[in-house]
Amino acid sequence: MKILILPGDGVGKEITSEALKVINLISKLYSLNIDIDFGYFGGVAVDKFNSPFPDETREKIKKSDAVLLGAVGGPQYDNVEKEKKPETGLLDLRKSLNLFVNIRPIITFKESINYSSIKKEFIEDLDIVIIRELISGIYFGEPRGFNSNFTEAHNTMRYNQTEIKRIAEYALNLSKDRSNKLCSVDKANVLEVSQLWRTTIEESAINYKDIELSHMYVDNAAMQLVQNPKQFDVIVTENLFGDILSDLASVLTGSIGLLPSASLNENGFGVYEPIHGSAPDIANKNVVNPIATILSVAMLFQHSFKRVDIYNHILESVKMALNDGKYTKDLSENEFISTSEMGDCIIQKIEELYND
Ligand code: IPM
Ligand code: MN
Repeated sequence: MKILILPGDGVGKEITSEALKVINLISKLYSLNIDIDFGYFGGVAVDKFNSPFPDETREKIKKSDAVLLGAVGGPQYDNVEKEKKPETGLLDLRKSLNLFVNIRPIITFKESINYSSIKKEFIEDLDIVIIRELISGIYFGEPRGFNSNFTEAHNTMRYNQTEIKRIAEYALNLSKDRSNKLCSVDKANVLEVSQLWRTTIEESAINYKDIELSHMYVDNAAMQLVQNPKQFDVIVTENLFGDILSDLASVLTGSIGLLPSASLNENGFGVYEPIHGSAPDIANKNVVNPIATILSVAMLFQHSFKRVDIYNHILESVKMALNDGKYTKDLSENEFISTSEMGDCIIQKIEELYND
């Protein structure tokens, strides 16, 4: 098994090096044969190769079984041309690997529940999964661009039935394995794309008789997620809505620094990354929370290695660390441990659990 690590920009290096400690320990404990390679991606790749997603990195991905990504972007790239934006590289990577499904679990830990700005009783034992369509919609729709004198710009939200159907199938199957409840989020009262989304999901759901499918407009869904999040189990939605709702949902857990994600294609190839950004303001200060990336490693073992046992092992170890009252600064402003201390603490818990 070969894992390619793309640390990227900002806090990317710090979070992936904590994640690497976890990979190495798991590899040792479970006698797995894991090869690690590193590549340039994002702003660091622009600096070195003049491209956020250089050929060298594309070749390395072809030779790997899974990719762990840190984060990309930074203020120095805000005004560069589109081809050299780190975000363009990220979208290119998702598109060229056909990573159409993005899985974003929203789980609250009882150990950190008091750090959420939402009242405890609304978020206790929360366990939601947002399935975000990742390679179509307004992020990729053509036509797009500025007019010649930059006084007007446009983007196009576009989906075809094939694209909707495959994400619907993924979400329906996942719901079947969970609580048979699926909520599809759209804006069908205004957008034709959403009308197509809705009817296509309904057609797919005909073959899943046990699943209770509901639909919700995205504005209402944003409100419901905060007001009564436990009504949801699996949410499926298009690219931009999923982007926005997943940041919003992260507030329920106390910190965006806790949330991992997996992006998969039809062959099960996966790219794993925290849902938070590169946070340049806190980079290189040893304060970023490494948990989102460590849980992304857990998802990597779950999906790419089919090792649910290892996923659970890592998840439990994270809970144990939090249970010891160990928090990074995003959770506990005044009394906190550093990024590397959190990594070490989780490593220690992984060992302890293994020896139990
Ligand atoms: C995410 C990020 C990306 C997105 C950015 C960095 C392009 O916000 O993964 O949620 O919008 O998809
Ligand atoms: Mn986002």
